[in-house]
Amino acid sequence: MGNLPDTLILFCRPGFESDCGNELTDHAARKGRFGYFRPGQVPGTVLFILPGEGEAEALLSSLPLEQLVFVRDWFLLLAEIGLPATDRVGAVIEGLKDAAPLAERPGRVEVRLGENHEDADLGRFARKWVAPLSKGLRGAGLLAGDPDSDRPLQLEILLNSFERALVGVSVAGNRARHPSGILRLRFPADAPSRSTLKLEEAWKVFLPRGRELAFLGGGRQAVDLGAAPGGWTWQLVNQGMKVIAVDNGPMDDGLMASGMVEHVRDDGYSWLPRRAVDWMVCDIVDKPRRTAELAARWVAGQHCRYTIFNLKLPMKKRYEEWLACRELIGERLQAAEVPFRLSARHLYHDREEITCFLERLDG
Ligand SMILES: C[S@@+](CC[C@H](N)C(=O)[O-])C[C@H]1O[C@@H](n2cnc3c(N)ncnc32)[C@H](O)[C@@H]1O
Repeated sequence: MGNLPDTLILFCRPGFESDCGNELTDHAARKGRFGYFRPGQVPGTVLFILPGEGEAEALLSSLPLEQLVFVRDWFLLLAEIGLPATDRVGAVIEGLKDAAPLAERPGRVEVRLGENHEDADLGRFARKWVAPLSKGLRGAGLLAGDPDSDRPLQLEILLNSFERALVGVSVAGNRARHPSGILRLRFPADAPSRSTLKLEEAWKVFLPRGRELAFLGGGRQAVDLGAAPGGWTWQLVNQGMKVIAVDNGPMDDGLMASGMVEHVRDDGYSWLPRRAVDWMVCDIVDKPRRTAELAARWVAGQHCRYTIFNLKLPMKKRYEEWLACRELIGERLQAAEVPFRLSARHLYHDREEITCFLERLDG
């Protein structure tokens, strides 16, 4: 990597840079790699620096992104490049030629901006730049000749501004499905609340690609705890599920008219179904450990097979709170001898909460 220190660029929700940095510091240390972090120039980015040569690449290849919650995406930094007002493509080519050579040629290039960037001109430039940039990089032999090739490496460019870019590389199978973990979804016109997008995103992030129907299809039964006004229930009904919506608040009339929803006015933390259901989802705003306990109880007690729930994190020590919740769920399910898989992510549509997916693996 020339004279650049070994660095990973991390992406998180703006404002969560410390949680993102702490999380990777912790995971890296458990693999015997001791790095430090600092916030990047672009909000929602973090630079994670490792002292030894080759360490960033080694960490990237030994730690699956899906084990991380606040780190939504990442890539290995190759060069930091000043962009002149003319021939920015040429500057990237020169910068990459000076950087350490890659083991293989990447198949394509992705140009990213910060999540909250407000510079419409920069946004337009980034979109239009991809084609001439790709052509220039291919011409210089820095991208593979065949643009459709399914290559493991992908060049990554984070445009800080018109004048500065961070250039790097990401690896197939260990990068976010959606660049920077940003998944903009269209709000369904008849859904009762914007929260609906959180559940839609959760399915897109957690369910194995191409196998979504195995989890959602076939007329399944679901329970939605803290359902009102019904954004999450709407998603479940949209998948053809019959839903018991538990909330003392009112449900959306249009959704109730679907005939697919039974509204139960009760406390979501104590109510249980008479028969087991496939899905339980919970979007109640309460103490995270209380919700973690609830999810563990439902899965351990075989009241549901799958659950998606939000943990509303405190203002401080958010990463630590997630660790405590993860441990609590693990302990409960191990005590009940129930095999399980727990995934969690700070989704693009999440704010102060993270979203978890817990599934029972037996039967
Ligand atoms: C964030 S809103 C849920 C929004 C919903 N997921 C949607 O998409 O429309 C939280 C809901 O939890 C409900 N709630 C709070 N405490 C509850 C409890 N103990 N039992 C059941 N519902 C509860 C509130 O009435 C509120 O409707």
